[in-house]
Amino acid sequence: EAGAAELDERILRAKAALGSRVVILGHFYQRDEVVRHADFVGDSFQLARAARSRPEAEAIVFCGVHFMAETADLLSGPDQAVVLPNLAAGCSMADMADADSVAECWEQLTMLYGRAPESGGKQPVIPVTYMNSSAALKAFCGENGGIVCTSSNAASVLEWAFERGQRVLFFPDQHLGRNTAKAMGIPLEAMPLWNPRLPLGGNTPERLLQAKVLLWNGFCSVHKRFTVGQIDQARADHPGVRVIVHPECPMPVVDAADESGSTDYIQKAIAAAPAGSTFAIGTEINMVNRLAAQHPEHTIFCLDPVICPCSTMYRIHPGYLAWVLEGLMTGEVRNRIAVPDAAAAAARTALERMLAVRP
Ligand code: 13P
Ligand code: SF4
Repeated sequence: EAGAAELDERILRAKAALGSRVVILGHFYQRDEVVRHADFVGDSFQLARAARSRPEAEAIVFCGVHFMAETADLLSGPDQAVVLPNLAAGCSMADMADADSVAECWEQLTMLYGRAPESGGKQPVIPVTYMNSSAALKAFCGENGGIVCTSSNAASVLEWAFERGQRVLFFPDQHLGRNTAKAMGIPLEAMPLWNPRLPLGGNTPERLLQAKVLLWNGFCSVHKRFTVGQIDQARADHPGVRVIVHPECPMPVVDAADESGSTDYIQKAIAAAPAGSTFAIGTEINMVNRLAAQHPEHTIFCLDPVICPCSTMYRIHPGYLAWVLEGLMTGEVRNRIAVPDAAAAAARTALERMLAVRP
């Protein structure tokens, strides 16, 4: 195994040789040894936009997870190659909604609600997929009058959906869906959970007829670990602590926190705070540790005392980054992510609708 310094050098050498032919994008959850080499670091929304910002680059090396690389492929130019340094970097939440189960759910909802527009000419259901989903699901939304959202624009996107539909089917993350809809004043009784293994998702037809937001039964295993007990402990240990969590956390945790927001929201809140602030953060540990190192003027710690990395984000080892960059130097595109043509146009439609919504 190559040493860290040697890998660092190989990456720097390849980057220098490639120049503007390649752009490296990195999500906030990437480890420092990778983030250091990124041309853009951001949340999933910012990285989707960044994929469009360098049309002259031949390749976009995406240091993040599979669904983010797919999105970059959909939004970048037709001749640009998107590369995911390790193809095993998926997202367990994205895997919780597969296209067949969503199609099956859609069929059941169509039988129940009908196909024709209801009062006010609104569609019976608008499908909304979280960015953390396969391109096939984005295509499903594009084909059925739906849209994509991220954790930074979920409320605006839900408003967009309610202008066009009576209800929303939100997948895969039940927590982002519930937290966002609740903040918009939608009562919990109007948010049934859809379990894809049960007929009608495990609900009675009456319950579904009263639904405003149907929540798919998916979740993030990293953010599910945060608890109200940890917040209570942080407040007891650090009076005056500001608790900020990601909206993928369960509702009681978001309710007990002072604020919730996307990874970009979290980093901006910390950067804008007066020196000497104390923050307890409920999100991935690589990001929290980096923020703590970047802001010695504050006290910043992770709510979960047990290290909780996103194991799939962590699969982007600098060794893979060096390997794909060196491939590009010799004209070989390794680990290309290309969304099949059959899904691309409709998936792009759903993404374009999101990009047109004001955050
Ligand atoms: P952000 O949109 O906040 O970057 O979150 C992406 C993600 O995967 C969080 O788990
Ligand atoms: Fe997926 Fe959770 Fe990792 Fe984000 S933190 S990429 S939602 S598993």
